[in-house]
Amino acid sequence: MTKVIAAQRLAEIEAVASKVQGWLANQAGRTLYQMIIQYSPNNTIVELGAWKGRSTVWMANGVKDRGDNGLLYSVDTWQGTQNEAVHKEMLKNYSDDQLFEEFLANINNAGISEYVKPIRSTTIEAAKNWSLDKPIGLLLIDADHEYKAARKDFEYWSPMVADEGFIVFDDVPAWPGPTKLITQLPHWYEQVAVSQGQWIVQKRAF
Ligand SMILES: C[S@@+](CC[C@H](N)C(=O)[O-])C[C@H]1O[C@@H](n2cnc3c(N)ncnc32)[C@H](O)[C@@H]1O
Repeated sequence: MTKVIAAQRLAEIEAVASKVQGWLANQAGRTLYQMIIQYSPNNTIVELGAWKGRSTVWMANGVKDRGDNGLLYSVDTWQGTQNEAVHKEMLKNYSDDQLFEEFLANINNAGISEYVKPIRSTTIEAAKNWSLDKPIGLLLIDADHEYKAARKDFEYWSPMVADEGFIVFDDVPAWPGPTKLITQLPHWYEQVAVSQGQWIVQKRAF
């Protein structure tokens, strides 16, 4: 049976997520939360690109409220995106570990630490270390938005997505990289929804 989502619960999460500096719009956060609770085939959830944890707050609360011992794996170098001027500027006075520490403090303040496993590495290294017997119910791709990098993230992570699992591409059509990539997906990915800035596809089982 579809789980009902209370408006008050969404408002509570939004209040916490909005305090975390980041780029994810509230509507996009709500969609991720809802996808995890109502549609994901399992509660193994991965985000590529966490920054200070705004998307993490939405997704980890989804994992928590779904209530079946799930986990959100948050993959990030916590060094900012290479060649992204805005990140360089924002991190120019940061020490090496500062962004990661801020992320940890934010998820701790949000009361979701037990639902989050941070993986501090490049997205590709993390994919190489991912066990194939842990299929992913929902994958958010929101790390490096350059076309080649986004395409590599898709190619490395796609085999780990469960049958009937979802991939959410962030920043479509705001960034040319993911916007081009979504026109090139294999035919077994079916577009199922578009939310604010997000393109959502589902992996069809053969
Ligand atoms: C757009 S931000 C993520 C925003 C976040 N989802 C939010 O809700 O605010 C992109 C993040 O991806 C990370 N990143 C970029 N390239 C990466 C790579 N190759 N491996 C791991 N993390 C990467 C950056 O450190 C940055 O924190």
